[in-house]
Amino acid sequence: MSTNTLLILPGDGIGPEVMAEVRKVINWFGENRGLKFDVSEDLVGGAAYDAHGVPLHDDTMARAQEVDAVLLGAVGGPKYDDLDFSVKPERGLLRLRKEMDLYSNLRPAQCFDALADFSSLKKDIVAGLDIMILRELTSGVYFGEPRGIFEEGNERVGINTQRYTESEIERAARSAFELAMRRGKKVCSMEKANVMESGILWREVTTRVAKDYPEVELSHMYADNGAMQLVRAPKQFDVIFTDNLFGDILSDCAAMLTGSLGMLPSASLGAPMANGRPKALYEPVHGSAPDITGQGKANPIACVLSFAMALRYSFDQGDEATRLEQAIEAVLAKGLRTGDLLGAEGGTPISTSEMGDAIVTALQESLE
Ligand code: NAD
Ligand code: IPM
Ligand code: MN
Repeated sequence: MSTNTLLILPGDGIGPEVMAEVRKVINWFGENRGLKFDVSEDLVGGAAYDAHGVPLHDDTMARAQEVDAVLLGAVGGPKYDDLDFSVKPERGLLRLRKEMDLYSNLRPAQCFDALADFSSLKKDIVAGLDIMILRELTSGVYFGEPRGIFEEGNERVGINTQRYTESEIERAARSAFELAMRRGKKVCSMEKANVMESGILWREVTTRVAKDYPEVELSHMYADNGAMQLVRAPKQFDVIFTDNLFGDILSDCAAMLTGSLGMLPSASLGAPMANGRPKALYEPVHGSAPDITGQGKANPIACVLSFAMALRYSFDQGDEATRLEQAIEAVLAKGLRTGDLLGAEGGTPISTSEMGDAIVTALQESLE
């Protein structure tokens, strides 16, 4: 396989809309920075269901296992709400995460200076914010057995199981500490050890792993308090380490610190492959946004920032990732805004595609 292979899975709803803008950015790096990507594209989610009757075809799964990085748009939508659970669009994404064993989900929340006024929180609470949520992604209540809807007496019972092994907690904890070592050297672990045995084990294992990282300051917080602290004083955090479900909720919450869910990227990483690169999938934190699909309103920045994370974590191009992040900062500083970023502070309203073009223009300007 040639170098820099990328599998693009646009998915459903605004997924293809935001991915079209990422394509412009990928092409720019190919033409101007000598970063050539061997890009292939395939279906996931409802789009795959429409074509194949399953939300992820086995061939797509196999391809995802081979490439250096997968870039995914979003899956799901009302059209698929009544499908059998086993073929719902979201199952396609969960299969990718599970079979690629992407246990370490990095969800950074950074507040760009130009958006500090726009957050629903006061400017001084979010200005300069730079936190990282490390969400365990392949276990916990999303995958634990037993699960299902069962008959019990004369009614039904819905069951999901929160289950974590020590090794699952440990490997994700190591990712959190490794990240903290390259950042502010603080980890805050969030669980509910006051009511859940899995939380007690989580706390124990995390405390044990911390001994290997004496420079990192570890603290523990119950996840409900964590949610409150995240909106009260988010800058107290550096790395937040948490489980699959709490991480899902806390990261949507963190999104609003940055101004919009349309701003939050993510990287889902697994063990290193033969070429030394980690198994990797990059995707925005947001979903398929059915309420704005097809209207040119979607903010492509979360997806573009996810590609920046791919440059950094899969392709060893940290400087180019920073170039891309700075290009986005420059576009925002010019006052250009998709609808989700427009408020009383004003700004120039632009469409999804105009935002992609503006990012490419700013990239070009970065060379001048
Ligand atoms: P959502 O993230 O799709 O949308 C929530 C709100 O945020 C909506 O008002 C939407 O318009 C807005 N929004 C989201 N992304 C935006 C963007 N880039 N630009 C501007 N506004 C944006 O969440 P939802 O409505 O709860 O879920 C819709 C579907 O997406 C469901 O089927 C859900 O399962 C799926 N989903 C998929 C993913 C994923 O693919 N990773 C993540 C979350 C939800
Ligand atoms: C996310 C999404 C997914 C999750 C869904 C679509 C499976 O909400 O990536 O945040 O719950 O993990
Ligand atoms: Mn989510």
